[in-house]
Amino acid sequence: MTSAEVRQSFLDFFQSKGHTIVPSSSLLPSSPNLLFTNAGMNQFVPYFLGERPAPFNRAADTQKCIRAGGKHNDLEDVGFDTYHHTFFEMLGNWSFGDYFKKEALEWSWELLTKVWGLPADRLYATVYKPVKQGDPSVFDEEAWKVWEKIFKAEGLDPQKHIKTGGKKDNFWMMGETGPCGPCSEIHMDLTPDKTGGALVNAGSPWCIEIWNDVFMQFNATEDGQFVPLKKHNVDTGMGFERVAGIMATTENFTNFTRPPSNYNADVFAPIFARISEMSGKTYGRTMPADRNKLSPQEKNDVAFRVLADHARTLSCAIADGILPGNEGRNYVLRRILRRAVMFGRRLDLAPGFFTELVTPVVQTLGPVFPELKMQEETVRKVVRSEETSFDRTLDRGLQEFERIAAKLEA
Ligand code: GLY
Repeated sequence: MTSAEVRQSFLDFFQSKGHTIVPSSSLLPSSPNLLFTNAGMNQFVPYFLGERPAPFNRAADTQKCIRAGGKHNDLEDVGFDTYHHTFFEMLGNWSFGDYFKKEALEWSWELLTKVWGLPADRLYATVYKPVKQGDPSVFDEEAWKVWEKIFKAEGLDPQKHIKTGGKKDNFWMMGETGPCGPCSEIHMDLTPDKTGGALVNAGSPWCIEIWNDVFMQFNATEDGQFVPLKKHNVDTGMGFERVAGIMATTENFTNFTRPPSNYNADVFAPIFARISEMSGKTYGRTMPADRNKLSPQEKNDVAFRVLADHARTLSCAIADGILPGNEGRNYVLRRILRRAVMFGRRLDLAPGFFTELVTPVVQTLGPVFPELKMQEETVRKVVRSEETSFDRTLDRGLQEFERIAAKLEA
């Protein structure tokens, strides 16, 4: 499947289950405790909290997300691994006081294994179990039982395929406060020899989380309480680039010999092609084992991934009216652009290269998020002005360094 087919198939599946398909909300969040929209559920917070009635009982979408600051921050990993992004699409389905754990988990399984054909024996589920004093709620026996039935029906051992996790991995919160609840993740073993089950939640690219089913049951308040919500809700989040990347890497689950990477998904190809054109270098699909000991090709590939990711982040954020600046979320954006420019210099790219990446970003994401297409010129102008000013600062710093070095040598 192409990335576009994955996205459409997800939406079609949930539409067939009675979900209303809604547009992505802006990357500028309405919740005051967030820097950026960091999950599909953000736009639905008032419905979960019962502050406003939901206009539908079920919804699904693909949501633009940025995780670069606040509770969910992946910035420093981007480039050095193959499955974290600052910008990504989250595919999600929601129940507002309608279906709950059974349907949510069974539909997740149906889409993954029956519609898309993911091999069941490579999938692992996690459920919430408090591990220390003060952890909210109780062992999620209900989710465990649903998974037990599913794995048994596949002829797989539930004891092996279901794992438990504490608050860190299996209790999802959008920020320090707000709607939250126990969650059940689905992880996929991508190892050649199917030994990756032991790597669930171990931070390995060979076994990654692909989908999270959150059961929104509580509101976390400022004083640290978890207040039960009046209605039980479902909030799920699937990593679109992760699934598309797995399909691309494994050629639709037929070849598990290659290092897995989200960046093998076709959404990144036009951006990589433009970087190659400008730098004369090619993306080598390497996966660094140790970020402190990178080979020349690994260094090259880290830079390719950083540039592709950051170009998507800057373009989508600016299209939603978030501009690089000196404070808060605006400063985070400025830092991301500067990080990209620094990595671009490692590829010997000429000044102004980053602005050139706006075109392939709009080409790949514009059909999904029309605001990007509409704001294309503004995005280009803002990126150009920010890039030019940082280039000047860097050049001035370099000249000053050379002047001092020459003096010391004399
Ligand atoms: N809200 C579900 C997730 O981000 O994983």
